[in-house]
Amino acid sequence: MSESEITVLEALHSTPARRYLSPEPIGDDIVRKLLDAAIRGPNGGNTQRWAWIVLRDPEVKARIAAFYREGWEKLYGVHREVMLAQPESADGLGPANFRAGDHLAAHLEDAPVWIFPVLLGAARSTNPRLGASIYGAAQQLMLAARAYGIGSTLTTLHTGHEAETRELLGLPEDALTMALIPLGYPSRGRWAEPKRRPLDEVVFHDRYTAP
Ligand SMILES: Cc1cc2nc3c(=O)[nH]c(=O)nc-3n(C[C@H](O)[C@H](O)[C@H](O)COP(=O)(O)O)c2cc1C
Repeated sequence: MSESEITVLEALHSTPARRYLSPEPIGDDIVRKLLDAAIRGPNGGNTQRWAWIVLRDPEVKARIAAFYREGWEKLYGVHREVMLAQPESADGLGPANFRAGDHLAAHLEDAPVWIFPVLLGAARSTNPRLGASIYGAAQQLMLAARAYGIGSTLTTLHTGHEAETRELLGLPEDALTMALIPLGYPSRGRWAEPKRRPLDEVVFHDRYTAP
């Protein structure tokens, strides 16, 4: 599959979380291009204390998917009935996204490639802004994926088993997996604009004035 001619602004407005992903393989050359876009992202002092793990191994994926499912069930699955009964809104997950989340949890292994953005030396950090040194780059990866028609979601529900995940991925003890990003060609849904609260509710000029 080739790169599309989408502009940066078009991509910014049409890259929702894509949770219905097909098992169709993604070429190594494309994965490399996505990572090459990611590492151009911002990071404190340009120290690049990061590692990007590309996971395709089905056995390791199965182990980590079980961690993810446990996290999903604890945080969201237990509220299934309430979540599905809610009206759709620009706030929170809403039933459609909940169903998509449920699907992703059940089919995480279908996504042919998983990316773990990892921060080295981060496990004992007390810096509340630590994530700033990798989440911008992770978003660049997801936007680059968008240009190739590849869907993604930034996920974190495996982190209830961070130590085991770290071991499975061969990471040093002081590393932190900052996300698990499943990548795949979407099997359902569309590149819709993400729904958000109105700009005027969240933007303030010179001084925060919310009630
Ligand atoms: C810190 C963080 C953790 C997230 N963890 C998960 C996750 O574990 N599973 C999941 O399906 N989505 C996860 N998401 C994706 C959010 O649910 C998603 O960004 C949000 O619902 C907006 O989705 P939209 O852009 O499609 O509107 C996470 C996002 C962030 C920023």
